Amino acid sequence: MQNEMKIYKEQVETATAWLREKIDFTPKVILVLGTGLGAIADLIEDSLVLPYEEIPHFPRSTVTSHAGNLIFGLLGSKEIAVLQGRFHFYEGYSTRELTFPVRVLSLLGPEYLFVSNAAGGLNPAFAAGTLMVVEDHLNFIPDNPLRGPNIDEWGVRFPDFSQTYEPCLRQLAHSCAARLGMIDVVGGTYVAIPGPSLETPAETRFLRNCGADAVGMSTVPEVIVAVHAGLKVLGISMVSNVNDPDNFKPIILEEILEQAKIAESRFQKLVVEILKEL
Ligand code: HPA
Repeated sequence: MQNEMKIYKEQVETATAWLREKIDFTPKVILVLGTGLGAIADLIEDSLVLPYEEIPHFPRSTVTSHAGNLIFGLLGSKEIAVLQGRFHFYEGYSTRELTFPVRVLSLLGPEYLFVSNAAGGLNPAFAAGTLMVVEDHLNFIPDNPLRGPNIDEWGVRFPDFSQTYEPCLRQLAHSCAARLGMIDVVGGTYVAIPGPSLETPAETRFLRNCGADAVGMSTVPEVIVAVHAGLKVLGISMVSNVNDPDNFKPIILEEILEQAKIAESRFQKLVVEILKEL
């Protein structure tokens, strides 16, 4: 285990050093784009696009709905590093492997991690297209990216998660949404499940009873690494479908992507507005 961690650390440091050579600024924000939300990358100015396969030791995406580019540039007049395409536990990666990009970028010295995802709504007050500012999370992925020897240079052994999603950032997200006239931007708890099988009606009822408002298969591992690295975190879920355990409808990927396309311009406007105000 010690040796495995030593190799991981070396790989992270190699990728970080490689990226440092490519850029002449420190990104202030890391933005992780979720399913169907990748087009915001087209708005980045002065962009440098690096396909994941060019970056040393980066994982490879196995899902067609996720592109695989790291993009540096300016968005909302802020220096930003965008992960266009992420990795998931259901692809077979351990959470340490799938958080490799966030760990690498955290070593470039950013202040913030913004994470986004497409999620299933569990709160019956939500509708398809609702944007949810994440207030807290439940981790039902049976792995933790910090498991194993701790690298003290990167963070403490037992990081605090009492305020995982920075309250000032959440407040800022809501005030930006109000200014943009987005009245259906809500707050809520995200639960991460391992996937790739979608929830049964009984699981949906259980997750709702656990206190979750939205369910997805990502985000929490990246957030755990970011908090360990001392970053301030903002999470935004795009609710693509709402799952009612008493009137359960099939959950169809094409419909998730279709809904993401519809909600995408609102998501983009909100993220750009928040960046401007940072
Ligand atoms: N469940 C899990 N993940 C999802 C869903 C869902 O209903 N919708 C989008 N991602």
